Amino acid sequence: MTQDCTPTPLSINDLQAMKQRGEKISCLTAYDASFSALINKAGIDVILVGDSLGMVIQGHQTTLPVSISDMIYHARCVTQPNQRAFVIADLPFMSYSTPIIAAENAAKLIQQGGAQMVKLEGARVETVRFLVDQGIPVCGHLGLLPQLINQLGSYQVQGKTPADAERILTEAHQLEDAGATLLILECVPATLAKEISAQLSIPVIGIGAGVHCDGQVLVLYDMLNISITKRPRFSKNFMQGSLSIEAAISAYHQAVKQALFPSIEHSF
Ligand code: KIV
Repeated sequence: MTQDCTPTPLSINDLQAMKQRGEKISCLTAYDASFSALINKAGIDVILVGDSLGMVIQGHQTTLPVSISDMIYHARCVTQPNQRAFVIADLPFMSYSTPIIAAENAAKLIQQGGAQMVKLEGARVETVRFLVDQGIPVCGHLGLLPQLINQLGSYQVQGKTPADAERILTEAHQLEDAGATLLILECVPATLAKEISAQLSIPVIGIGAGVHCDGQVLVLYDMLNISITKRPRFSKNFMQGSLSIEAAISAYHQAVKQALFPSIEHSF
């Protein structure tokens, strides 16, 4: 009899345990099988199939044109060879405009895309509660919400005023209470992210949110310095000083685990 040696992917319980023992969670975006395999090889804990693919893969100015079919296709590409990493897939713009529509699309990302969890932007508390009631694990996303770019006008740091910081903190609690089991915080002051990470019992993964979050995520193409757009201030070129893509991903993983990234220059 042969033994199946394929490692089982991490579960949400493993990520929760990391938070409890103070181990930082490493996360990168990926959109295809080859990068998925490299990311797994480097030991990254979480892969986010982000709707940032609209910008870095499809060449759009924003994430808004990305469809649910695009997301399913890229999620499937990533999960096909996936081994250890926990995989989250984004619900794209207008794919969660009502709780029912959200559940139908989230089910597709899980059943056809192979994702373990779906992510949606904003304090959509009722939608999150509905998805969780259907057995769908949800990651919230607060702070800078790229799907609101036409309302925001530009990609800028959120939560800078006391009132805005208080709103984001309240929304984080609301999402946790609604059953979200992970939260991504994008482009907020490090002090606010520290407070939210300490107050919530679920893991908080930051991007442009300082070193005190429970984990870090970057857009893969930014940290490899191969994006067609300018690298955001909070990101870092890990190819610098690395001899290969694999070494750069590994350097990022180590820097996150040792809380060496992000430094002050990559924080707000
Ligand atoms: O789409 C994406 O890559 C994201 C990250 C920026 C968090 O949502």
